Amino acid sequence: MPLRKDFLWGGAIAANQVEGAWNIDDKGMSVADVATFKPHVDVKDYKAHNTVTSEMIAQARNDSEIEWYPKRRGIDFYHKYKEDIQLFAEMGFKALRISIAWTRLFPNGEEAEANEAGIAFYKNVFKELKKYDIEPIVTLSHYEMPLALSEKYNGWVDRKLVDLFVNYSEVCFKEFGEYVKYWLTFNEIDSVGRHPFTTAGIVEDKCIGYTLEEAIYQALHHQYVAAARATKLCHELISGSQMGCMLTKLTTYPNTCKPEDVLLSLESNLNNYSHADIQLFGEYPTLYKQQLKNKGITIQKEAEDDTLLKQYTADYLAFSYYMSRTESSDPTLEQTSGNTIMGVKNPYLPSTEWGWQIDPVGLKISLLELQDRYNVPLIIVENGMGAKDEVTSDGKIHDSYRIDYMKQHIKEIREAVDAGVDLFGYTSWAPIDLISVSTSQMSKRYGYIYVDQDDLGNGTLERRKKDSFYWYQQVIESNGQNLD
Ligand code: BG6
Repeated sequence: MPLRKDFLWGGAIAANQVEGAWNIDDKGMSVADVATFKPHVDVKDYKAHNTVTSEMIAQARNDSEIEWYPKRRGIDFYHKYKEDIQLFAEMGFKALRISIAWTRLFPNGEEAEANEAGIAFYKNVFKELKKYDIEPIVTLSHYEMPLALSEKYNGWVDRKLVDLFVNYSEVCFKEFGEYVKYWLTFNEIDSVGRHPFTTAGIVEDKCIGYTLEEAIYQALHHQYVAAARATKLCHELISGSQMGCMLTKLTTYPNTCKPEDVLLSLESNLNNYSHADIQLFGEYPTLYKQQLKNKGITIQKEAEDDTLLKQYTADYLAFSYYMSRTESSDPTLEQTSGNTIMGVKNPYLPSTEWGWQIDPVGLKISLLELQDRYNVPLIIVENGMGAKDEVTSDGKIHDSYRIDYMKQHIKEIREAVDAGVDLFGYTSWAPIDLISVSTSQMSKRYGYIYVDQDDLGNGTLERRKKDSFYWYQQVIESNGQNLD
């Protein structure tokens, strides 16, 4: 079965990884502006990359440096968006997933009025996309919440964040609703558990009177409620709009058929699903509730929360998929890294230079599972391969490894659709090189478009088309038929 005619082919980027201009036009500091590049830290050591303390925040506040804070400079999409969008259009993009930096609209998250310069910037981006008939898919919160809200409230632990987010969302719907039909609330909401500061502004040393684990569950609850309220508003304010929820699809296999391994992988998958369950079925799963009880955690809820979750579920499920992982009951087995999560090495799969295991069949498995479980429209909003690219003496970038990766994954997508999966789009991560989330490296490149910048920010920022640029162009032109 061919992919639907209006299939949304495109790419995905996030404000904090591309825009730069971190303190321009009254933008406030976001949590992303605290993340430093740490060349001495092993790329597998997510804890070292993700841990942020109050001391580090204070230091970042007083530091106007951009060399060690790569997300502050991004790839200067803020000034180069026209050039970049023109290149996306040349590849034939039907859709571009972007995010809005909350701090361009509300620098500290609590201002009474939104910052006009921020609104103007995104309107210009949307107008530019419209010029080329590129459908925007907009994430309201992609790892860039206002730093001030982390400092003042310990982020999403505080209920206050729900109202502040809903207020910010309302401004987005009113200002950009004319241009944007597809919305997403939180990027990879499940990641609050893996990097609580980046996704929810939680700092461990500020967890006083409660544990970090309690903080994580409470913050998640607040995000689910905020998502439900934003969904309600979105439908009321923008006719025909669609609000999605998003999951990091962490497909986990048992390392062997030993029942203990099977059990561990089942628990891991159920844990991953629970975040989508809550936003699509509108209630906490029975096992999740019991898990909280067993841990002795009581979530503070307000009377209307359960009704809100039930009434305002998401319209579609968006997910990222990069790798699969395995679980084993044998603690001595070699571990490898994945998308901010470790797993036991799968002997059947190759890995990227960062240890992420390349598993195209896992994407088909994921699509089938998600379709069967939720039966809502699906969209893959991130999939791609981080690699070190080299500009050869002919001035070109021959990234055949990336083409192979994408080709194999798209082949599996076609098969899944053939099997009945209702998939309406694919926005690969990332169409243009940008700053890595986990390691803040520039040298971990995902793009079809090369950006001349190194890890320390040296370079001209010139954009160059890689071999994969022309390959993806032909994939889109043939609606996924021509992969060779
Ligand atoms: C996803 C994030 O989980 O992984 C992106 O939503 C991120 O923001 C992507 O960039 C790839 O991860 P990394 O660490 O290689 O940038």
